[in-house]
Amino acid sequence: MLLKGKTALITGAGRGIGQAIAIAFAEQGCDVAITARTATELQETSSRILAFGRRTVAVPCDLTLPDTVAEMASTAQKALGPIDILVNNAGYACFKPFMELSLEEWQQTLDVNLTGVFLVTRALLPDMIARKSGRIINISSVSGLRPIMNQTVYCASKHGLNGLTTTLAMEVKPYGIRVHAICPGGVITRLSDENMPERDKTDWMLPEDIAHTALYLASMPERSTADIIYIRRFGSVPLGG
Ligand SMILES: NC(=O)c1ccc[n+]([C@@H]2O[C@H](COP(=O)([O-])OP(=O)(O)OC[C@H]3O[C@@H](n4cnc5c(N)ncnc54)[C@H](OP(=O)(O)O)[C@@H]3O)[C@@H](O)[C@H]2O)c1
Repeated sequence: MLLKGKTALITGAGRGIGQAIAIAFAEQGCDVAITARTATELQETSSRILAFGRRTVAVPCDLTLPDTVAEMASTAQKALGPIDILVNNAGYACFKPFMELSLEEWQQTLDVNLTGVFLVTRALLPDMIARKSGRIINISSVSGLRPIMNQTVYCASKHGLNGLTTTLAMEVKPYGIRVHAICPGGVITRLSDENMPERDKTDWMLPEDIAHTALYLASMPERSTADIIYIRRFGSVPLGG
């Protein structure tokens, strides 16, 4: 059991990559708090966590509403105790040409992918700093590493998230806190189905592949760390290739 005795809070854990991470962590002995907006989807993840005999709490929360985020984090901490691992996974995507983006779409993307991470991280960091221990795993994207046509705001949010990740890693190092980002290429989820319906996804990654990477980071030896991990489908070309 790689995460026996640990606790985690995972955002966007009702489906897709976040749900796969929640299940993988529970399978490895971790108690897992989960959040997203859709309560019915959280229930499904909860029941799968409970099946491994782990504790869980599901706290519905919209990360674009700043006032509710601190309350969500506090509910999770009260239910499970101090949170060892935060996975900032919740994400929103709107792929279209720059001139067709509405201000609302621009704002929603930054609010979920960047400000949401800011809010949840700020809610949990004080306790991690006090305990001089903790790990934060941000689910970024290949869109945080290179330009992709028609993804201006998504690319901006994920480039921003990578910058947040590495800069925060420096800032919280004195407290023994690790901060990582995973940058996946294409994964079969609702987000990619809705935004890239025309793409053939037969060789795309599954959410479990990203959960595997998150588990690797969550269980790394203390003496080593990783900043940004790019994980891509085998059939794609390496970065810069
Ligand atoms: N799929 C890919 O190809 C791919 C590739 C690279 C990176 N990623 C990243 O992976 C992460 C997970 O995405 P996914 O592909 O698994 O998508 P998904 O299946 O659509 O899941 C997204 C999750 O985020 C939650 N969420 C969205 N808006 C929210 C809000 N305002 N407040 C709280 N929760 C919210 C959703 O729950 P509710 O709707 O119920 O709130 C859901 O649980 C995202 O950060 C995404 O950018 C995905």
